[in-house]
Amino acid sequence: MPKKFVVTPWEVKGEVDYDKLIKEFGTKKIDDALLERIEKHAGELHLYLKRGIFFSHRDFDWILDKYEKGEKFYLYTGRGPSGNTHIGHLVPWIFTKHLQDVFGAELYFQMTDDEKFLFKRDIDLKTSMGFTYKNALDVIACGFDPKKTFIFSDIEYAKTLYKIGVQVAKHITFSTAKAVFGFTNENNIGTIFFPAIQAAPCFLPSVLKGKNIPCLIPAAIDQDPYWRPSRDVAPKLGFYKPAQIHCKFIPGLGKGGKMSASEPETCIFTTDSPEVAGKKVMNAFTGGAGTVKEHKEKGGEPEICTIYNYYRFFFEGADKRLEEVFHACKRGELICGECKGVLAERVKKFLTEHQKKREKAKDVIQDFMLKD
Ligand code: TRP
Repeated sequence: MPKKFVVTPWEVKGEVDYDKLIKEFGTKKIDDALLERIEKHAGELHLYLKRGIFFSHRDFDWILDKYEKGEKFYLYTGRGPSGNTHIGHLVPWIFTKHLQDVFGAELYFQMTDDEKFLFKRDIDLKTSMGFTYKNALDVIACGFDPKKTFIFSDIEYAKTLYKIGVQVAKHITFSTAKAVFGFTNENNIGTIFFPAIQAAPCFLPSVLKGKNIPCLIPAAIDQDPYWRPSRDVAPKLGFYKPAQIHCKFIPGLGKGGKMSASEPETCIFTTDSPEVAGKKVMNAFTGGAGTVKEHKEKGGEPEICTIYNYYRFFFEGADKRLEEVFHACKRGELICGECKGVLAERVKKFLTEHQKKREKAKDVIQDFMLKD
C-alpha cells in the first residue's frame, strides 16, 4: 500500500511523494535541459536547484523564451500572515531574491491578511494585519532591492486589488471553486471569493503599467491549486498565464511533516533567540539508533533524519561534505550529538545575522509598502 499524503493550500499531511504530486497536479519536473538553461543565466545553479528543493514548474521555459527575446518578467510571491515567520518560510523568499538578482525582476509580494482572517477561526483582523508588518520585516531582511520590490497588505491595498479580483471572480463558477479547493456548505462566503484576490497579483503589474507583462510565481507546491483557475481566467482577461516554479516543504524538527507554526518546538522562528533555536536543534528527531553503542554498530538513517535534511537546505556549496556526512552516518562513525552541534552553530549564526537585518528593516519598511 502506498503511504497516504495530503497537500492542499491549507493542509500538508503525511510523507509527501513529490513525483506523484507532479503527476496529480499536472505540473512539470525541472529537468536537466531546463537546469542548463537557468545555469546559463545565473552563472552557477542556486543550491536549491542543485539539491532539487525547487523541483517543479509550469511554463518556466516559456518565461525564459520571453526573457531571452528581451521581454522582462516580474516575480510574484506572498505570505499568509498568521504568526511569526519561521525558517521554512524563508526558503522560497531566499530563492525569489536570487531570481531577482539574476533576472533584474521586480517583485510583488502579497500579504494575505484577509485570507488568514477568513480561513482561521482563532485570528482577528487586527492580528493578521499586525503580522503583515512583522512578516514584512523578514521579507526585507532577505535583501530584496527596495527599488524593485513592492509589498502590500490585501486589506490596505484593497482598492486596487478588488478591481482586478472581481474581474477574475466573474469567470470562476462555484462548481470550479468546489472542485479545486474542496469548499463545502460550511465555508464562509469570504473564503469562496478569496481565491480571486490571490489571483489578482498575477495581473497587477500588467494593470498598473498598462501592458501585458509575464509573471513568474516562486512558491511552495501547496499553493499550486490557486494558480489553476488563475491560468484559466488569464486569457479571458487578455493577460498571459502566470508561470510557476515550485519548491518542496522544509521539514520540521519533529518526526515527519513540514515545519509548522502550530508545533513551536519543531520549528525555528526568526524571532527565536539563537540560544532557544540551538536548543530546539539539539532536541530534534534524528535518524540515529537508540544508543550510541548501537549507532556505532548499526549506523544511522540519514534518509529520515531532520538534521540531515537541514544540512540540505542550509549547507551552502558543500555538496561533497554533504555526501560524506551521509556515509559517515550510515557507517555509524558520525554520531547525532556531533551532527546536531554543527547544525546548531550554523542556525545560531544565521539567526544572529538575520535578526540584525530584520532590525534595520524597521527603518525602511515604508519604502517597500504599496498603498492605494
Ligand atoms: N496563500 C499563501 C499562504 O497562506 C500566501 C500567498 C499569497 C502566496 N499569494 C501568494 C504564497 C503567492 C505564494 C505565492 O501562505
